Amino acid sequence: MGTRHQHDVLIIGSGAAGLSLALHLPREYRVALLSKADLNQGSTYWAQGGMAAVLHNRDTVDSHVADTLAAGAGLCSREAVEFTVSNSRHCVEWLVAQGVDFDRREDQPKEDQREFHLTMEGGHSHRRIIHAADRTGRAISEVLSERAEATDNIEIFTHRVAVDLVAAGGRCQGAYILDQRSGRVDLFQARSVVLATGGASKAYLYTSNPDGASGDGIAMAWRAGCRVANLEFNQFHPTCLYHPRAKSFLITEAIRGEGGKLLLPDGERFMTRFDDRGELAPRDVVARAIDHEMKRLGADCVFLDISHKSREFLQSHFPTVMSRCADFGIDIAAEPIPVVPAAHYTCGGIVVDTSGRTDLENLYAIGEASCTGLHGANRMASNSLLECIVYAESAAGHIARTLPEVAAPDPAPAWDESQVTDSDEDVVISHNWDELRRFMWDYVGIVRTNKRLQRALHRVELLQAEIAEYYGNYKVGNDLLELRNLAMVAELMIRCAISRRESRGLHYTLDYPEILPEARDTVLYPPNSPLQSESDAKSA
Ligand code: FUM
Repeated sequence: MGTRHQHDVLIIGSGAAGLSLALHLPREYRVALLSKADLNQGSTYWAQGGMAAVLHNRDTVDSHVADTLAAGAGLCSREAVEFTVSNSRHCVEWLVAQGVDFDRREDQPKEDQREFHLTMEGGHSHRRIIHAADRTGRAISEVLSERAEATDNIEIFTHRVAVDLVAAGGRCQGAYILDQRSGRVDLFQARSVVLATGGASKAYLYTSNPDGASGDGIAMAWRAGCRVANLEFNQFHPTCLYHPRAKSFLITEAIRGEGGKLLLPDGERFMTRFDDRGELAPRDVVARAIDHEMKRLGADCVFLDISHKSREFLQSHFPTVMSRCADFGIDIAAEPIPVVPAAHYTCGGIVVDTSGRTDLENLYAIGEASCTGLHGANRMASNSLLECIVYAESAAGHIARTLPEVAAPDPAPAWDESQVTDSDEDVVISHNWDELRRFMWDYVGIVRTNKRLQRALHRVELLQAEIAEYYGNYKVGNDLLELRNLAMVAELMIRCAISRRESRGLHYTLDYPEILPEARDTVLYPPNSPLQSESDAKSA
């Protein structure tokens, strides 16, 4: 029998978004913060590049807003972009006050007055990426985790995987949570629940993301009745290390920001044939160009060359990339790095407002799980850590203002395992994992067609039926829960992609290569949406 827990605020997810929100809440609230593994193992920790912010005296909020809108291919919400960017400086100051040690310029004489070192990435018209060498996510994650661990009102639960939300009457009141160590499913109830569960790039065979990016929050919110939007926009990072033993290793875009050139196997530089901005064109353009050239030449990879920079420069700016490549016998100061595109970021997600509020009362979503409107059809590099911190603060503010009026949750039933047994055939799970990720890569990848999308839909429906049967008969475990969520989110991605009859941003289809004059979000309504009448009116 599982345990019952009661808190004021339940935060599911322990990346930059979840940790920041916990730290922004008033100390009188009892907060439960759940982590799927140990702290410091999610996507935040592995973020290399940095966080975009208006910090340079020649940069402006208007310029950062304009670049974000341009990268988003007409689909960003101007309100969300202006809200996020205008909070960027102050969010950097908050992180610095927490103790995050961003790199400072070495060419300025007075050590205590040095400005931040700002780097460049695709789509930005100014140097505006604040970073800690090429381990920015790690610097942020470690500092915020330490602060959360030292804060009395925050209770951290590790190795907990969310199964489903407890929701009724349009209101969320908690979640069922698997304790991976005991195998029990516990009930966590709270007056406010926050999904900070990250994205779903594990839906693809090749991804830069760590294990765990299985779209749990998106799937749970959908099942509980929340709208999702723009899930056809899966960002493929152009440069992940290509090596048979290098699982999920990203080669940061900042390398291209510092002059790295993309080369074909014969040494020809090719990006200028595709876009005047060359290697610093937005990611969708670069990833598609690489995909095109690899298919045209039948090549396994292309190459990224930064060997014109000195060894000392590379060692101080890109120590992580340098040492990881060295593990595979590649000396980046002397030779180009073999790279391929890989799924990197889920631009769509749970529909929220500028306070992170979803369609269910007392349920919030922040970070990659959410769709705020900031990214539109293509996220600009390094805007996502910024979004995590900005929306964590605004959601915490909303919770702090409204919680005193929120009634305590009604007692919910404990998890019932009386009708299920232990699984006798785990191979079903591993087989379905592989099948899902392979057809998503082949049919819902960088270049799409109607036929490929229909094939993928057919397959995902078959998989979902098998998974539902398995879920109904056997005890839940981490792999089954992740597979169930990934299959759900994959179906939503495919349905969004099928309904977009144009090519815009990250969604490119050979059947509709043009962009339509009017930009529209793809919004899906679940059958139990509290806004169902709005959906009926739209489809009428
Ligand atoms: O290339 C990178 O370092 C990734 C940055 C980002 O995804 O924002």
